[in-house]
Amino acid sequence: MTVTDAARAGSAGLPLSARLRSGTRADHEAAETAPFVERLMSGALTRDAYVDLAVQQHAVYTALEEVGDALRAATPAAASVVLEELRRVPSIEDDLAFLLGPGWAARVRVLPATERYAAHLRERCRTLPRWVAHAYTRYLGDLSGGQIIHRMMQRHYGLGEDGLSFYRFAAAPRVKPFKDEYRERLDALPLTEEQRDEVVAEAQRAFALNRDVFVDLGAVHLA
Ligand code: HEM
Repeated sequence: MTVTDAARAGSAGLPLSARLRSGTRADHEAAETAPFVERLMSGALTRDAYVDLAVQQHAVYTALEEVGDALRAATPAAASVVLEELRRVPSIEDDLAFLLGPGWAARVRVLPATERYAAHLRERCRTLPRWVAHAYTRYLGDLSGGQIIHRMMQRHYGLGEDGLSFYRFAAAPRVKPFKDEYRERLDALPLTEEQRDEVVAEAQRAFALNRDVFVDLGAVHLA
């Protein structure tokens, strides 16, 4: 039995959401402790660093939601996980218009790791298993640690609700039941065991792509 077979045997029968949580636990710890993230959260950086993060998130969510919309149009099963309540692009655009003023889109810089992440989404994640792995990584993260990030950005960088609407899910105000329901939707997806393996592997890749963005942001803001 190979290591992969053993890991699969150990998780066989577990719901997808549980497999995702345990399969990305180490990746989550690495993301949470990335130097850019830790310094941003502790208030050691400037508001510009937060704005730059929002710019990168705009590029990523534009790709994620564009691919999600196309998938929902083409694949009936995708409708249960491509949810309007989660859509983030309009919120990030409001935030950036507030933070940078009109015409912001022509004045921002999308970093190389962000370009790679967005290209990966557009080119490699047009199937349900691949896409949903990225949706899980980003949206459940925003609904979880994102709520802590929201508070820290308010505390350290003088931001009010304007500029932070990305972290507020107005269409899903009760976060905990919404997350539970989202996990149930993941668990109910009609995926084979091989496809569930693919989702977990792709979620690990999603975390790695996020880590790369933090490295690029660190190169700009930790100097
Ligand atoms: C400051 C950084 C972060 C903090 C403080 C943080 C904190 C947390 C906490 C407390 C939870 C558990 C919530 C719960 O059980 O309901 C969580 C879950 C999660 N976080 Fe983070 N997080 C951070 C960064 C990230 C990043 C960068 C990502 C991915 C890009 C991410 C993705 C996730 C995901 C997918 C979950 C859901 C795990 C699951 O239940 O399956 N987090 N986070």
